[in-house]
Amino acid sequence: MSAPLAAYLAEQENKSLLRFLTCGSVDDGKSTLIGRLLYDSKLLFDDQMAALQKDSRKFGTAGEDIDFALLVDGLEAEREQGITIDVAYRFFATDKRKFIVADTPGHEQYTRNMATGASNSDLAVILIDARKGVLTQTRRHAYIASLLGIRHVVLAVNKIDLVEYAQSVFDGIVADFTKFAEALGFATLVPIPLSARYGDNVIAKSGNMPWYSGPSLLDHLESVDVETALAEQPFRLPVQWVNRPNLDFRGFSGTIVGGRVRAGSPVVVAGSGRTSTVERIVTMDGDLDVAVAGEAVTVTLADEIDISRGDILCAPETRPEVSDQFAAHLLWMAEEDLLPGRQYLLKVGPRTIPATITALKHKVDVNNLERLAAKTLTLNEVGYVNLSASHPIAFDSYRDNRDTGGFILIDRFTNGTVAAGMVDFGLRRATNVHWQALDVNKDARGGQKGQKPAVLWFTGLSGSGKSTIANIVERNLFAHGRHTYLLDGDNVRHGLNRDLGFTDADRVENIRRVAETAKLFVDAGLIVLVSFISPFRSERRMARELLDTGEFIEIFVDTPIEVCMGRDPKGLYEKAKAGAIKNFTGIDSPYEVPETAELTLKTVDAAPEDLAGQVLSYLRGKALIP
Ligand code: ADX
Repeated sequence: MSAPLAAYLAEQENKSLLRFLTCGSVDDGKSTLIGRLLYDSKLLFDDQMAALQKDSRKFGTAGEDIDFALLVDGLEAEREQGITIDVAYRFFATDKRKFIVADTPGHEQYTRNMATGASNSDLAVILIDARKGVLTQTRRHAYIASLLGIRHVVLAVNKIDLVEYAQSVFDGIVADFTKFAEALGFATLVPIPLSARYGDNVIAKSGNMPWYSGPSLLDHLESVDVETALAEQPFRLPVQWVNRPNLDFRGFSGTIVGGRVRAGSPVVVAGSGRTSTVERIVTMDGDLDVAVAGEAVTVTLADEIDISRGDILCAPETRPEVSDQFAAHLLWMAEEDLLPGRQYLLKVGPRTIPATITALKHKVDVNNLERLAAKTLTLNEVGYVNLSASHPIAFDSYRDNRDTGGFILIDRFTNGTVAAGMVDFGLRRATNVHWQALDVNKDARGGQKGQKPAVLWFTGLSGSGKSTIANIVERNLFAHGRHTYLLDGDNVRHGLNRDLGFTDADRVENIRRVAETAKLFVDAGLIVLVSFISPFRSERRMARELLDTGEFIEIFVDTPIEVCMGRDPKGLYEKAKAGAIKNFTGIDSPYEVPETAELTLKTVDAAPEDLAGQVLSYLRGKALIP
């Protein structure tokens, strides 16, 4: 390699990197601004320029001029609609700094994309159309930027040429925005009047606004100090992979997300509290004495301690919290509403565990940051919740560490991401409640009754015959000396669950309580019959997972809806069809057919007694009853 080239590469490598995000409403000119930055800082190749000139004539909206937005809005669909969808990341560099810019869409339905862009940016350029001023979108973007940990903001008041470069317009917008942003606690907020289209104050100071004494956008981006000092934070290494090529080597691999580690440093495994000392820091290029946040490493320890994927190696003096309950902000990203009580998968770093939203404290009105009472969150809404995970995990507050404090929630059936979450703090209340070990246990209680406790979970449409069959099964078991209890939807809804209706959220809670009750009755040694519509797969699965293997027997009472309607024992279908009852299962509320039922009972052409007989022979087959 020639000396000048080597020097050039070294210089590039030593430049600091600024990750920033551009956001604003549709038509505020984000793409044009980025295109202008690339163009004016001479970062385009000749062939890109030629293509741009050609495209500008063909698709452009800038007349004879170059349409810079075309440089950035790469996708054909975007060109046709004239809007930006998805997040586009672009890299560029000037003499002073390297940049990664995330260009995110403005439409409200793309808020989730903006969140994705924001979660790994240090600064946000919030664009405003000078003619329009601060809009709902502006406030939403500022709020989400702050929620996702961005501490530095540029308020780019664009299209200032279209308001005759008027200082009064600029000042008015800045005053509006500053007032709103006060509560958001940004470390820096720099307003800049500019015209992306004509280049005013983008790269160089414009001669059109003698009243403006601040920096140009690029000057500011090149000089703003956003050092999050991640390397000065407490040491955190989430273990991605336990690297064990042979019996002599056991290394823990991952990317350091906070602080630094040296060979010889003491470390602790956050969850178990076990301690050891770092022996080696191994990388592709040989061993290191010290490694810092951002580096991917493999460490070996002096002691053989139990560590697996998802554990976090930490500095012993500053450990993360460990809890199974925490308070967090959620940005809801799914078309389907949030269902408190439903189990989702919570993924934090390399670890994924089931978790439930136990309380929705409030949602946030992005226009004024007011807290509103809410039962659910819909697409793009932000709420503050309590979460309960299936077992304790180590985490930091998102404020302290975006990697160990940020998480996503995943739908267990579609595997789609439904929310982005930011941990606020751990809730210790519940961790102080320990499960009491009792001397008389489930086996003892079941044994005394001469039976194996289990749950027979009947699911199916209203009028499908669940209760009729369950009733015959229970009568038979009882007659043979078995100890049973039947939990029936209609009955339980008169007592324990009388506060619940038939919205999706209420049904989730209905089934959660019944599942917990069934679990207690199983612990009491009983054979429990549950007869609930239980329309959702997620909650039936949750009930199954509460119990031990083999204890949960799902029985699908399979009756076509037309037949249920024909029977209509309570006259409810009639009313539902007439619109007198809302959210009726099978009419305007879904029933998700079981995929993993142990038994399917087809009620058409079979007598209830015969179907009950099938259930009893299943139980004998599994040796649950003699
Ligand atoms: S579940 O969906 O939450 O499991 P559950 O089994 O408790 O329902 O209650 C269903 C019973 O409530 C039905 O058998 C019917 O008698 C009555 N009911 C009243 N309104 C509705 C409704 N909108 N949808 C379904 N069932 C209803």
